[in-house]
Amino acid sequence: MKAILMVAAVALGLGVAGVATASDDLAQKSGCATCHAKDTKKMGPSYKDIAAKFKGKADAEKTLVANLMSGKGHPQVKSSQADTVTLVKWILAM
Ligand code: HEC
Repeated sequence: MKAILMVAAVALGLGVAGVATASDDLAQKSGCATCHAKDTKKMGPSYKDIAAKFKGKADAEKTLVANLMSGKGHPQVKSSQADTVTLVKWILAM
């Protein structure tokens, strides 16, 4: 019984890590990582700082995606609309 619980816990952990890694890769591939990092400020603010700044703002996702895609107040990004939505959601959830 204990062994089964352990296996389930490990599988769950891997699943969560898998999702985080996919978005990490996407951020890397989309060029975001050139200017952003999770915890530290580079050319742009850290993802965690961004998440804190927009915490509780209902329209944050929509506004940020629009700004990033159009290059308004932010260097224009090369990622697709769908990828940008994924990335913004990932950042805001930190
Ligand atoms: C050339 C450097 C650069 C690249 C590449 C870059 N960013 Fe940024 N980013 C910045 C800077 C500088 C800021 C801070 C100025 C600002 O608020 O727009 C910022 C701010 C942000 C913000 C907060 C905007 C706000 O209004 O506070 C988000 C969200 C963001 N970046 C997401 C991304 C994502 C997602 C990507 C990749 C698709 C990306 N960035 C690529 C430089 C960059």
